[in-house]
Amino acid sequence: MLQLGMTNGIKVYLGEKEGMNKHLTIWGKSGSGKSVAMQIITSRIIENGGTVLAFDLHGTLSEKNIYAPLRDKFAGATNNVEAYTEGIPANLFAPAIFEDGGVERPEDTVSAFCDIIEKTVSLGVRQRAALQRAAKYVLEENLYAQKGLSALEDGLKLQKTDVAANVADKLQFLLGRNIFKDADSDMLIEHGKLNIIRLSKFDDKTQALVSELLLAHIWRRVLSGEIKDLYIMIDEFQNISLKKGSALEKFLVEGRKYGIGLILATQALGINFTNSQQKLLLQSGIQLYFKPAENEIRDVAKILGGTEIAAYSMLLSRLDIGECVALGPIQIGETGTLVSSSPTKLKITV
Ligand SMILES: Nc1ncnc2c1ncn2[C@@H]1O[C@H](COP(=O)(O)OP(=O)(O)OP(=O)(O)O)[C@@H](O)[C@H]1O
Ligand SMILES: [Mg+2]
Repeated sequence: MLQLGMTNGIKVYLGEKEGMNKHLTIWGKSGSGKSVAMQIITSRIIENGGTVLAFDLHGTLSEKNIYAPLRDKFAGATNNVEAYTEGIPANLFAPAIFEDGGVERPEDTVSAFCDIIEKTVSLGVRQRAALQRAAKYVLEENLYAQKGLSALEDGLKLQKTDVAANVADKLQFLLGRNIFKDADSDMLIEHGKLNIIRLSKFDDKTQALVSELLLAHIWRRVLSGEIKDLYIMIDEFQNISLKKGSALEKFLVEGRKYGIGLILATQALGINFTNSQQKLLLQSGIQLYFKPAENEIRDVAKILGGTEIAAYSMLLSRLDIGECVALGPIQIGETGTLVSSSPTKLKITV
């Protein structure tokens, strides 16, 4: 069982019965305690033997931003992936393996690779065809193992068309720096570890795009059964695409089926998400509401309890740092009853 926090001196756990998913979203204004809560919960997942893949965006998981009481624990349990200096070990060209042991055909691997790119970079029909040609070349010549993703640039240049040149331009953020490289999959995700993909040295846009690509790659590996029982943690996830068909959307909607839980944190629901995205985020698993900004208190109170907006507004505005209101299936006490719909005030402590 995964402990979230305490209420009135009693331990509160994530309720995992009744087929509820394991997604956790964390909301609250700056300084309210979101990142610390996320880190405390992450450390418990690792202690329970679980595996976490975390995205270090904007330095959220840099040494100085790790909550001091957790630093030693994290240091001993971390697999660092230094994307900027060393590239991300991910075999984007590995064929999927089917349940019966059969191996995906090369043309399908090429298509799947192009799909991953297209989840992040939109391409026209002719551009897609050019990318497909280049990817086929990389696969046939086994160039990814030798040169990483920059081999794709060769495959585009060889075509000597404006269309292919445009695709190379669009993908320059990836190809120029060779962000992805061939490697065994356990270099990316070590079982039982906190695997941190360090992206903070890239500019904001590249951080988001690379995250989206990696998530799409991981989703493909999840579908083919190679990755399961994983928590994916993204602090300040607001710049990662949640549009229809995006990897993050897939994880939110279907991740539970495959044992994938998301832990996502950001400040506010209102500004960054469309209505349907808000709905998706609110339907998924458990939400922890830390103290909202003044102008969001009423909206959050509405989410908590239709008719008791005034009472919940008061509760929210009186939250201290590290306190939150949990909404969703939680279990109070080790053998407690499942409290599924009533919001419960929690304190998050190590
Ligand atoms: N559960 C807690 N117990 C004790 N102290 C806490 C707790 N949560 C937060 N703090 C203190 O408050 C500070 C700010 O918390 P945190 O970084 O988690 O805020 P945040 O909500 O992530 O803010 P931002 O949106 O700016 O990232 C921490 O550095 C820590 O000192
Ligand atoms: Mg934070």
